[in-house]
Amino acid sequence: MKLLILGGTAWLGHEVARQAVDRGHDVTCLARGYSGSIPEGASLIQSDRDEDQGLEPVATFQWDAVLDVSRQPGQVKRAVRDLRTARYYLFVSSGNAYASQGPLGQDEDAPLLPPLESDVMETMESYGQAKVACEQAVTEGFGSENCMIARVGLIGGPGDIFGRTGYWPLRFAHPSVANGTVLIPNAPALPTQVIDVRDLAAWLVHSCEKQLSGVYNAMGETQTFEEHLAAARTAARHEGQVVTADAEWLHSHGVGEWAGPKSLPLWLSNPDWHGMNARSNKRAKDAGLALRPLEETLNATLKWEEESGIDRPRRAGLTNEEEAELLTELVSTMH
Ligand SMILES: NC(=O)c1ccc[n+]([C@@H]2O[C@H](COP(=O)([O-])OP(=O)(O)OC[C@H]3O[C@@H](n4cnc5c(N)ncnc54)[C@H](OP(=O)(O)O)[C@@H]3O)[C@@H](O)[C@H]2O)c1
Repeated sequence: MKLLILGGTAWLGHEVARQAVDRGHDVTCLARGYSGSIPEGASLIQSDRDEDQGLEPVATFQWDAVLDVSRQPGQVKRAVRDLRTARYYLFVSSGNAYASQGPLGQDEDAPLLPPLESDVMETMESYGQAKVACEQAVTEGFGSENCMIARVGLIGGPGDIFGRTGYWPLRFAHPSVANGTVLIPNAPALPTQVIDVRDLAAWLVHSCEKQLSGVYNAMGETQTFEEHLAAARTAARHEGQVVTADAEWLHSHGVGEWAGPKSLPLWLSNPDWHGMNARSNKRAKDAGLALRPLEETLNATLKWEEESGIDRPRRAGLTNEEEAELLTELVSTMH
């Protein structure tokens, strides 16, 4: 198939392009080239989608499928306008499009946020609304029979520069203190839901091949935080102790949640966010999404983290110094 990827220079788009090339497809990526490179065997057309005529170089082709990772409604509206001759459009959306992130087990029929009115998403605060506006533009432009919306959950695996899925296996493999103790939040039942970038990309390519239509939660299996940490410990062959801290203690010591500096990644204390990682992925699995075991993902992520350099600045988690300091203080309050 002749596949046009709007993107292809960042993590997921690059993996989709790589797998599509491996499967013998003719792959063209359109991006500015700021985010990275495209895989060998694909072609890059450098262009800026923020320009009104940014898609002109690819507009006259008869694409079998277009895959778009944008978050900017204006970019997507212009793509729908200019790529009318494409047979099929797959839009990569997000679970953030849903109106509520609290309830557990919701499927694709759950209510969405209102669409962003502006063509430009100025900040990540309006990311979910922007994705809804993008989804609507695609569905209205191509008709629901000729497009697919993949609402993606947290992506993990090798290449996770955000550090959310690398932190725990890396931490367990390389504890900050000599006796191997690792600090974890007290949240055993918290849902986690990670999809391996390689599984997601494989299914997106498959969907383009089959011209699969509809709306799907493209998400991993929901597992408790306890199960997630157990998989990370196994991947890292960790045999030290774990020390648990309550939310109140962690907050009062400036430890953040989910991602970012001085955080404990994937941890979410507010139940209003627990549904974000407990969505139904049944429809996607029934439509061919195959998920590898979490331990395999975390193993590969650990290997990638170690190859990338364990001391490099990371976008999520506690540094060795931060963790060691917190552990010293926490353990002293226990005696
Ligand atoms: N990471 C997660 O856990 C997560 C969770 C849910 C959903 N998602 C969704 O999954 C997808 C991730 O995709 P990704 O990793 O490939 O991409 P990404 O990080 O969202 O990068 C955007 C892509 O679009 C290109 N782009 C941005 N502005 C452009 C412009 N003005 N003109 C032309 N190209 C432009 C970028 O290339 P250049 O900068 O080179 O131009 C890049 O290839 C996104 O749709 C994201 O919203 C991610």
